[in-house]
Amino acid sequence: MSDNIQTVTVLSKTTWTPNLFSFTVSRPDSFKFTAGQFVRLGVNPSQLKYYQQIEAGDETADSALNEDVFRAYSIVSSPFDEVIEFFSIVIPDGAFTSQLQHLQVGDELLLNTMPFGFLTLARYQKPLPKDLWLLATGTGLAPFLSMLQDLKTWEDYEHIVLAYSARSLDELAYVEKIESLQEDFGTLVDNPAKLIFIPIVTREPVEGALSERLPKLLLEGTLQERAGIALDIDTTHVMLCGNPDMVEDTKEALKTLGLVMNRRGEGNIAVENYW
Ligand SMILES: Cc1cc2nc3c(=O)[nH]c(=O)nc-3n(C[C@H](O)[C@H](O)[C@H](O)COP(=O)(O)OP(=O)(O)OC[C@H]3O[C@@H](n4cnc5c(N)ncnc54)[C@H](O)[C@@H]3O)c2cc1C
Ligand SMILES: NC(=O)c1ccc[n+]([C@@H]2O[C@H](COP(=O)([O-])OP(=O)(O)OC[C@H]3O[C@@H](n4cnc5c(N)ncnc54)[C@H](OP(=O)(O)O)[C@@H]3O)[C@@H](O)[C@H]2O)c1
Repeated sequence: MSDNIQTVTVLSKTTWTPNLFSFTVSRPDSFKFTAGQFVRLGVNPSQLKYYQQIEAGDETADSALNEDVFRAYSIVSSPFDEVIEFFSIVIPDGAFTSQLQHLQVGDELLLNTMPFGFLTLARYQKPLPKDLWLLATGTGLAPFLSMLQDLKTWEDYEHIVLAYSARSLDELAYVEKIESLQEDFGTLVDNPAKLIFIPIVTREPVEGALSERLPKLLLEGTLQERAGIALDIDTTHVMLCGNPDMVEDTKEALKTLGLVMNRRGEGNIAVENYW
């Protein structure tokens, strides 16, 4: 594992709320990934020194530095970007994010450059159905932003629905980015209406946003009505990411609607839990 760990430098930071922020880091030349994958980030750069010392057979290496402070992080940026972007929650007493929140431009982080995860569009066998539904809560938006910055996603599906649920309007991050993707990639594929963005805000009324949880919206047909397309076993791929309760409840709702889990490339539903 130590072979894969590199230091990366923080290049920018965007604070959305006291509990949500994004940041970019330098991208090692050799680092490759597929849109939708995640990596492991570490907050203590002195760990690198520890790994290097162990590899060099240095018996004075301080194991106290080797705390387990790595966490899984989905990549927001596209596989073609020069930098790597992440979108993070702050859990005030969380071992990782209580430190990560203090990150400043110029600081170093550890990156395990082995990408993981099967929440990628490559998991689906061809022929592809016409519609792709991407359903996220909170920071679970991250892998979908990466997919939406890959032209192939736009070329492969007739409609892409992105439904993104947050507690409050200020936690609905990246809305301007989503709108610019709609315009930029929509123009590239000659269909500005291809990406249908459905914001959901559950704990305060917000004009233009839906307000119920995803499973209810699906079972009542409100989400399909808002998207203007049906969810159907023959026409739909659905990806879920974020809160594990949302993933479980939404999976059950989708099964009630006749969709099935994707296994060995076949089937509609693919999921990723964040905790
Ligand atoms: C495959 C995968 C990808 C992930 N990608 C991201 C990502 O892109 N951005 C991100 O912020 N986190 C992501 N996570 C979660 C991340 O790995 C850590 O759990 C998170 O950084 C909190 O770490 P912590 O040590 O501070 O708290 P932990 O001890 O890890 O978590 C404490 C509690 O905080 C809550 N929690 C943890 N993560 C989140 C979250 N993202 N949103 C809301 N509540 C949460 C849960 O209730 C959890 O039990 C991902 C997890 C997995 C498994
Ligand atoms: N967000 C904050 O203000 C805040 C502040 C401090 C700490 N935290 C910590 O962060 C974590 C939560 O972060 P978060 O707000 O990003 O995530 P979250 O609780 O997962 O909320 C994000 C969205 O997911 C929805 N959701 C939750 N459970 C669902 C389910 N079973 N089915 C469908 N939708 C569901 C929420 O709706 P509902 O609103 O209906 O739940 C909300 O719209 C918690 O561990 C909390 O302790 C959050």
